[in-house]
Amino acid sequence: MKKEGNIGIFDSGIGGVTVLKEIIKILPNENYIYYSDSKNNPYGDKENKEVLKICDNIVKYLLEKKCKIIVIACNTASAQASDFLRKKYPNIPFVAIEPAYKMVHDFAYDKPTLVMATKGTMESEKFNLLYNKYNNYKTYLLPCIGLADVIESDNKEKIYEYLEEKISEYKGKVENVVLGCTHYPLIENEIKSILGNVKFFNGAERLAVHLKNILENKDMLEYNEGKIEFIDSQNIEQKKERFLKIIKN
Ligand code: DGL
Repeated sequence: MKKEGNIGIFDSGIGGVTVLKEIIKILPNENYIYYSDSKNNPYGDKENKEVLKICDNIVKYLLEKKCKIIVIACNTASAQASDFLRKKYPNIPFVAIEPAYKMVHDFAYDKPTLVMATKGTMESEKFNLLYNKYNNYKTYLLPCIGLADVIESDNKEKIYEYLEEKISEYKGKVENVVLGCTHYPLIENEIKSILGNVKFFNGAERLAVHLKNILENKDMLEYNEGKIEFIDSQNIEQKKERFLKIIKN
């Protein structure tokens, strides 16, 4: 029997909207439930045990809301919890994002690269395997502690201050920038204003294609009206407004 249901997608806030935007470009006829866990933002500085517990609770909730597949639209949660979730819920397919470091290997291997991600992602075994496999020996790794949090609060001044302090030293030194956290594509312009005309690498587009392939192979594609239900764990109305604004632009 064909398995029907929603596509569940979650992140520690609205950052995963940058992933959902890519997904709906190629899967406009699916229904989505987006879970923004602003209550637990940031995940990037938390202990692994806590991240597992948080993700497990979100998955339970999304399954109650009849999700047929779950997209982990958070690099930190993907790096730390995807193996655990796949083992715990063997009948549910999970699609997990990862920093687009392989894309650098595929498209711009010879160029100096800055990888920006949370501390949790950078310290994870998954990221280190990826990094060692595709290392171009011209890469700077920058754990951006607290940056997702500043983006989540949408404070432009603080975002500039943060970037000035943390990334100015890479100006002129790097040509590629891996946006290894789903919040970071929201500040591409601000990063460019400091680093100049760098090339961004972000895993969302590839994830969307991968998701579509899985749905096709498992005969799970649907032709619905393309509804998006937004849920925030703190019920913050501005989060919903900002989310919808980004999705529509
Ligand atoms: N957006 C997330 C990521 O992709 C998490 C940021 C955080 O909560 O620290 O890593």
